[in-house]
Amino acid sequence: MIGVFDSGLGGLSVLAAIAERLPDADLAYLADTAHVPYGNKGDDYISARVLATGRFLVDQGCTLLVLACNTATAAAAIALREALPGIPVIGIEPGVKPAAASSCKKHIAVLATESTARSERLARLIREHAGSVRVDVLACPGWATKVETLKLDDADFIASVQRHLAPVLDAGADRIVLGCTHYSFLAPQLAPIVAGRATLVDVADAVARQCERLAGPAARGQGRLALWATAHPERLPAALSALGLQHLHARLSGPAGRAAA
Ligand code: DGL
Repeated sequence: MIGVFDSGLGGLSVLAAIAERLPDADLAYLADTAHVPYGNKGDDYISARVLATGRFLVDQGCTLLVLACNTATAAAAIALREALPGIPVIGIEPGVKPAAASSCKKHIAVLATESTARSERLARLIREHAGSVRVDVLACPGWATKVETLKLDDADFIASVQRHLAPVLDAGADRIVLGCTHYSFLAPQLAPIVAGRATLVDVADAVARQCERLAGPAARGQGRLALWATAHPERLPAALSALGLQHLHARLSGPAGRAAA
């Protein structure tokens, strides 16, 4: 079984990409909804959560973990790999490399949580892959929490997103990196804001490809999906529908469970 986890609903964007590539894999998704968001917390807090939720998934029988959270990957992927030797851990990092390589204007912007925005891991990614490219890093406080409410068509929120992006779009950024898995679900709101000026860059499918490469026997199962949350698990099936992932209902192995992690 492949375990996919995040602070909340954001990692469902990665789960959906994995489910599409691996139709027979048994999947488990864990949303740490009792502790969402991670993006305004410190590294020690995030690490403790990631170790607890990762261990929970291994206890459920997962043999491969996908940390579908940029914030958690930057803060805790190394610690998780050390804590779970023998379990491959795939993390997710903002798509700085593909964005920088494809930017015509040599100017990109990365949208991320506060924690990712200030992380050494993002700074290194930019140094290594965007040397000759201008990179504006925009922390987006509150965006992941907004996705958790599922009220994405709120006009005031969309107006605030537009104001937040205006300076980088006006300055000529032509690639906008979705550096938080929650932001994939804001693509319908972001697309008209950037239209004609920039392209959104999302690496969910690249992570799914990596998962496909590493899955081995975990790719061959019954095509089932188990949902877990540390708070309000009953909300997860409805969230799948609200986020346009109703097709995943067909894989559900039962009601969502409460994870004691
Ligand atoms: N979805 C997460 C990420 O990719 C974090 C959102 C949050 O909990 O702040 O960074």
